[in-house]
Amino acid sequence: MVAGPGIAQVRQAVATACRAPSLHNSQPWRWRMAAGRLELHADGSRSVPVADPLGRQMVISCGAALHHLTVAVTRYATACRVERLPDPSDPMHLATVTFEQIPEARVPAAAEQVAALRRAIDARRTDRRPFAPPQSNDLTGLGEDAVEMFAATLTLLGADGPARLLEAAQCSASVRRYDPDYHAELYWWAGHVAVSEGVPRAVLPAAGPVPVGREFPVGTLTSPPGPDRAALAVISTDADTRLDWLRSGEALSHVLLTATVRALATCPLTNLTEVAASRRMVGEAAAAGGERRGFAQIVVRLGRGPVGELPVTGRRPIEEVWEA
Ligand SMILES: Cc1cc2nc3c(=O)[nH]c(=O)nc-3n(C[C@H](O)[C@H](O)[C@H](O)COP(=O)(O)O)c2cc1C
Repeated sequence: MVAGPGIAQVRQAVATACRAPSLHNSQPWRWRMAAGRLELHADGSRSVPVADPLGRQMVISCGAALHHLTVAVTRYATACRVERLPDPSDPMHLATVTFEQIPEARVPAAAEQVAALRRAIDARRTDRRPFAPPQSNDLTGLGEDAVEMFAATLTLLGADGPARLLEAAQCSASVRRYDPDYHAELYWWAGHVAVSEGVPRAVLPAAGPVPVGREFPVGTLTSPPGPDRAALAVISTDADTRLDWLRSGEALSHVLLTATVRALATCPLTNLTEVAASRRMVGEAAAAGGERRGFAQIVVRLGRGPVGELPVTGRRPIEEVWEA
């Protein structure tokens, strides 16, 4: 057997897990060590109530951080046993994680694959610029194992996907156009020079969003000329419970990190799934692509990204989210 993680290592793994994506970089999570186990709690004080009144995206974001954690701890030859929603009386307590040593015999087998995923945590960025299309094998099998691991499916949309999702994006944008609360909230979170939370101007395209993208404040990021040729995919679940949301976030993280390993650029999109009418349209687009699960949770753009590193979007200091 190899040694399991000490508390300093768990803290370091949590810091790495906090590189996970979250709605508007709100980072709505708190981590607490209790009796040798790590608890993940949603932090309601960091919710985004107009865009996300039910807290669905808050839980999806936490699910992404939970999956990032399970990848991060492999650095210490450790695996996680995850109990989801362990306390029926506390819906904000999303998971309790216990750590298990990985028997040495099992370490080398998957080691390179897992190490690649770990490296992807630091390399991944949300890229809002237009993409070139994925190349022939880029998407083969992507997300297939998410079904087994997280009961969520990734459906790649066919040739009619861009037109269908454009219609959904236009629908949600028109619902929001004269909603001052939505715009006040969006401008609170995005378009500043903030360092540790929100979406900074440096990662928002000066040319505005791609056609299916969210209309953020205009930023300073230059984009290559030409249309967006990204592949579009939808993560769906059978039901729409808190557990489905959590698992969708885990599946999202798995898909984003795997795509990053394959040198693909990625962008999660929820402007399309926040408004009931446009969420229905996304569900119909997924169904047309063969999806049988009824609840569209999140859209992902995938493609060959423009050359040139994107700036890193900052995170809150670990002290603000960690308690031991
Ligand atoms: C639930 C969820 C919803 C998101 N929705 C959008 C979106 O609609 N548009 C977008 O450009 N990015 C979206 N993102 C990406 C976040 O803005 C991004 O993760 C955050 O700003 C941190 O940046 P990073 O991913 O580059 O680390 C979403 C991420 C999550 C987890």
